[in-house]
Amino acid sequence: MNTTATSSAEIIDLYRRYVIGNYTRYPVCLVRGEGSFVWDAEGNRYLDFFPGWGCGLLGHCPPRVVEAVREQVGQLIHVPNTWYTEPQGLLAQALSQRSDFGGRAFFCNSGTEANEAAIKLARLYGKAHSPSGTHRYKIITMLNSFHGRTLGSLSATAQPKYHAGIEPILPGFVYCPYGDLDAVAARIDNETCAVMVEPIQGEGGVNLPPPGYLQGLRELCDRHGLLLIFDEVQTGMGRTGKWYAHQHWSVTPDIVTLAKSIGGGIALGGMLARPEVAEYLKPGTHAATFGGNPVSCRAALAMIETIEADDLLERASVLAQRFRGHFERLRQRTPLIADVRILGVMIGVELTVEGAAIVQKCLERGLLINCTHQTVLRLLPALNLSDELVDEGCELLAEVILGHTV
Ligand SMILES: Cc1ncc(COP(=O)(O)O)c(C=O)c1O
Repeated sequence: MNTTATSSAEIIDLYRRYVIGNYTRYPVCLVRGEGSFVWDAEGNRYLDFFPGWGCGLLGHCPPRVVEAVREQVGQLIHVPNTWYTEPQGLLAQALSQRSDFGGRAFFCNSGTEANEAAIKLARLYGKAHSPSGTHRYKIITMLNSFHGRTLGSLSATAQPKYHAGIEPILPGFVYCPYGDLDAVAARIDNETCAVMVEPIQGEGGVNLPPPGYLQGLRELCDRHGLLLIFDEVQTGMGRTGKWYAHQHWSVTPDIVTLAKSIGGGIALGGMLARPEVAEYLKPGTHAATFGGNPVSCRAALAMIETIEADDLLERASVLAQRFRGHFERLRQRTPLIADVRILGVMIGVELTVEGAAIVQKCLERGLLINCTHQTVLRLLPALNLSDELVDEGCELLAEVILGHTV
């Protein structure tokens, strides 16, 4: 039990008076986390199957990350990118060595920023490779994608509901249905510079790529001299059982973006680009003051070390099987489950009804999950979750679903 002097109600009141209301929040104030558990100000414990909205790939406060951050903040917190620091160099090396394209890294603080960097790099590269009299700047992205909230990434996000009231969005983005290679082929013209896609759509409903899709995009890009950008902000850093999800399909991108899990909960975003592409991001073209600071890079190095030391990439497929077993059995017992989509610890359970009430009921019973696209229950649990906790959480979720009245 861990309580603070202030109650949830008092803290919620501070938010009501002083914090901009741009989020829908549960009426709970969280004060502590450890592994796959969090505690609120009243000492109630929750089993977290959605730690940190996908940032907690090792759960809350992973010990090696905590230790590395503690040590680093006592040594050097921040210096700008006019200097060299060892953690940034070592992290770039670690990410590059785990990529299969010798990627060079740029660091920032979030997923949307990583995608802004990718968009700018694609345009810089496109301009430099435009035959005379043409200008390659358009980027093809996919319906139901999610690339972030800043204006460039938002414009790449092909979901009109996120553009509402903010229009005009940036020009130069062309939308195609996810999974449809013919649509992409039909939309490429002499102004296109890149194709940008999440290998598995996350916010769009945990949508796995149809067979041959990512390979087909690679072939189209090669044929037309376009860059292939994989947004791995949600799928990257081991969530699917490979360092980069695209490695499941043996397709190599020109640019990959990362964030969420990379820093073990500390804010960090990154972009890796093939060396021949990376060279177009020259001094003066792009920057991020906090990007690649020693604290976040040490956290990320500790995160990689933990995944490798504890064999957690292998653990991802064991967990996937265990979750799948639970949800497939549940599917036999209720018509409410339409589909189960899982790769590693990226889990989507599509319902035939809206999921918000189920998420709410789970919260009341001490289980944290998410619902995206109205009907898809999304779980992004930690790689170090125990079998017992998988069973405990899934049994509770099954009870809630079976007890749900439409
Ligand atoms: C695939 C993908 N890209 C980009 C983002 C934006 O990341 P951030 O919220 O860190 O800016 C998200 C966030 O959910 C995401 O899932």
